[in-house]
Amino acid sequence: MAVKPPLIARLSTDLATLGEPELLDLVRSRPVPQHVAVIMDGNGRWATGRGLPRVAGHREGVKAARAVTRAADALGLRYLTLYAFSTENWSRPVQEVSMLMSLLERSIHDELPELMERNVRLRVIGRTEGVPAPVQRGINHVVRETARNSGLTLLMAFNYGGRDELLDAVRSLARRVALGELKPDEICERDVSAGLYTRDVPDPDLLIRTSGEMRVSNFLLWQIAYTELCFTPTLWPDFGPADLYRAVAEFQGRTRRFGGV
Ligand code: IPE
Ligand code: IPE
Ligand code: MG
Repeated sequence: MAVKPPLIARLSTDLATLGEPELLDLVRSRPVPQHVAVIMDGNGRWATGRGLPRVAGHREGVKAARAVTRAADALGLRYLTLYAFSTENWSRPVQEVSMLMSLLERSIHDELPELMERNVRLRVIGRTEGVPAPVQRGINHVVRETARNSGLTLLMAFNYGGRDELLDAVRSLARRVALGELKPDEICERDVSAGLYTRDVPDPDLLIRTSGEMRVSNFLLWQIAYTELCFTPTLWPDFGPADLYRAVAEFQGRTRRFGGV
């Protein structure tokens, strides 16, 4: 009887054909990234391609986010950041924006029992201005309830913009300079990082964007300076645990040089 070669030897040939449990075993046998960030894109196209309203795509997108969070937990990631709503997304039709707000509020509320069970801590990065008060209250409740969980940290980028985040950091540094607490020439990278929403979070090791778009759309601009990028044509509602594991396997096969040799 033919003996199967070890998984690692088969990696380059059949990553695409491995099933979810094998992929999970494979990626867990090697160092996993600490922090994976995801631009969850393509909900609208998923829906319109099926003759459905865009909101149907967002509902499916929530299911994908739930499955990918479980997969990140199974993988043992420390941080998973999901881009849920950008500062630019306010420019969408009002019905879509208000539907997205209530969908996010409801989904986060419904997720609380499972987040507790899995010891997942929810945090939100982004500005609160403009977010309807009931949505803020609902999200804050789940953030507070899960604050002491010590497993995966799920960072939800909500009303998030990388440029806004940098502006906030620059303003706070400028205030410290004006107060004489800091000299302009002494400002270092650490001071900028410390002014970001992600001040206590390691930079993402891997950034995944779905739907075939090859851009970062104002996401984590400072933090992704040396992040490995992975673009996939899969639309977000079709993206599942196996896709996350494949992206991590691809990441594990890369050499990060950080400018060195
Ligand atoms: C991503 O899907 C979800 C959000 C930006 C809220 P889109 O809604 O951008 O879907 P496409 O890109 O139009 O297909
Ligand atoms: C990025 O997707 C924002 C989120 C996934 C929340 P968009 O669909 O808003 O980005 P663009 O417009 O294609 O750049
Ligand atoms: Mg999009």
